[in-house]
Amino acid sequence: MAYGLLKGKKGIVFGALNDQSIAWKAALKAREEGAELVLTNTPVSIRLGTIDQLASQCGAIVVPADATSMEDLDTLVDKAMEQFGGQFDFVLHSVGMSPNIRKSRPYEDTNYDFFNKTLDISALSFHKLLNVLYRKDALKEWGSVVALTYIAAQRTFQGYNDMADAKALLESIARSFGAIYGKKRHVRVNTVSQSPTKTTAGSGIAGMEDMFTYADKMSPLGNASASDCADYIVTLFSDLTRHVTMQTLYHDGGFSSTGLTADAMEIFKKGM
Ligand SMILES: NC(=O)c1ccc[n+]([C@@H]2O[C@H](COP(=O)([O-])OP(=O)(O)OC[C@H]3O[C@@H](n4cnc5c(N)ncnc54)[C@H](O)[C@@H]3O)[C@@H](O)[C@H]2O)c1
Repeated sequence: MAYGLLKGKKGIVFGALNDQSIAWKAALKAREEGAELVLTNTPVSIRLGTIDQLASQCGAIVVPADATSMEDLDTLVDKAMEQFGGQFDFVLHSVGMSPNIRKSRPYEDTNYDFFNKTLDISALSFHKLLNVLYRKDALKEWGSVVALTYIAAQRTFQGYNDMADAKALLESIARSFGAIYGKKRHVRVNTVSQSPTKTTAGSGIAGMEDMFTYADKMSPLGNASASDCADYIVTLFSDLTRHVTMQTLYHDGGFSSTGLTADAMEIFKKGM
């Protein structure tokens, strides 16, 4: 059921690779709620993925951009402003990648060039994006910027590797830039800390299947799906959350506040 929460609003969605992507579901939901969209991803992801399908479903244009390139981000924001006829309302940063994870380099024997790349793609890109939006005054008053994060920023999760450090930095950037952007333009900046989700990025994490089941059993409401996440993101782009900013918002079925559940204990006992 649609509520028209984003009627008349316009925004950019980063990171829809295929129909499993959190960004894919968020774009569909935002469109359903009345938003006009510009979609973006890296040229190689556009080529290998299926974003064009999403674009035709959403009536959106696709502008290629590597989120680590200031030049690409400048062009993207200029093109979005051209498409929207001026300032716009929201941006979703749903971007992450770790070459260390991809190449199975353990955290204690990291490759530092890869580590820098992880931080650049998964965290600094958020700063770069906010920098470009701020400098160009691209967002309307009370605009909203959301990035996706994971609870490994707060607690260690074996296998999450250097992405944990990237997410900690990402969340810090949301607070630091949120303070500046909020004061200057009343723009909100938040991160959503999502349950493990079966996507291309999610599947790259070592032991993802077990992690998914563990989190599900440890969450009173069960894991939140990518579609649930899309619903939540839409509320953060809407006018109903105008004073929420600089937060890490847990969208995880209660996992982050849970110490132990009977369901998880049952599985543990069986294993013993
Ligand atoms: N899947 C999970 O379990 C989970 C849980 C919590 C948070 N997240 C976060 O959600 C976000 C979206 O991931 P997803 O799970 O939908 O997976 P996904 O693989 O569908 O999306 C990741 C996206 O990042 C894009 N990307 C990678 N490098 C880029 C670059 N240099 N410039 C621009 N885009 C780039 C990819 O092309 C892809 O579209 C990520 O930030 C991820 O860390 C995922």
